[in-house]
Amino acid sequence: MVKINPHTKLLGLIGDPVSHSLSPKLHNYVIKKLGLNYRYLAFSVNSGDLSSATSGARALGVKGLNVTVPHKVSVVREVDELTEAGEATSAVNTLIFKENDLLIGDNTDWLGFIDALRVNDFDPAGKHCLVFGAGGAARAVVYGLARAGSKQIFVVNRTVANAEELVEELQAYSGSTELGYMGLEDFSFGKEMLDYELVVNATSVGLEDNHRSLWREKPVLNPDQLVFDLIYNPFPTQFLKVASQAGAKVVGGMEMLILQGLRSLQLWTGAELDREEILAELKKYLGGKNGSQGPHCW
Ligand code: ATR
Repeated sequence: MVKINPHTKLLGLIGDPVSHSLSPKLHNYVIKKLGLNYRYLAFSVNSGDLSSATSGARALGVKGLNVTVPHKVSVVREVDELTEAGEATSAVNTLIFKENDLLIGDNTDWLGFIDALRVNDFDPAGKHCLVFGAGGAARAVVYGLARAGSKQIFVVNRTVANAEELVEELQAYSGSTELGYMGLEDFSFGKEMLDYELVVNATSVGLEDNHRSLWREKPVLNPDQLVFDLIYNPFPTQFLKVASQAGAKVVGGMEMLILQGLRSLQLWTGAELDREEILAELKKYLGGKNGSQGPHCW
């Protein structure tokens, strides 16, 4: 690893809490592997200090920050410019401090999600997709699927008004992708499920509690379908266990976590990297598919 010297540039994560985050381990691994003169640290920043933390980082010449819970939405007001992804998802997970002093707010969650589909040999173009959830994570998923050219995205959420709002707001970015929504209570897990090549859990159900899942009854699924859970810990979630028993192929959130991080690192450093090769190494290094740390600590 390049020794710390006067030219070493700083990257990091701001959130609260950050103590269980995998991001420092992930980024410093890649920094070392590629011989980059950077270091990545985690900073616990409470909500009252968010503004001074970002202006302090700017003054110190920090090159980039990841943003996690609870600041992903509130940090939007600290940036000079939002990328389209930041605007569409109303959330920022990546801050880029430019040479011209501009602070850019971006979101790489959607790209991490699409990259994770692709490494699992699933191309979303032209596909029918079912997304459970209408929070921040679901926004990144819907935006990503629309950008990747899905034919149809159907959003199902406990609070139907939140699904309606998501669909209305993302319509502007959806191009020719058809968007629809429904309340979870009215949705059937019967043979209608076979209409979708991709099924995604973007709710928090199952996080830290492996006994709970969205399924009220055994879903009708087949081996041609991919069921994806954004939750990476535990793996597999109850949602994925049931889907797997019903015959579908399943993917947990670990690959998305790693791939969104790699996308941020590329934005900050401009480094060329073989994402698939580094993904395979990082999955082992970070504790395999089981993800050994706290949930959603991106
Ligand atoms: P995130 O940023 O991780 O997406 P969020 O914005 O709080 O978190 O969104 C959580 C999502 O999980 C929402 O879609 C939420 O549904 P509501 O819009 O009805 O709140 C969903 N969710 C949370 N607990 C749930 C539960 N017990 N059953 C069904 N959906 C649930």
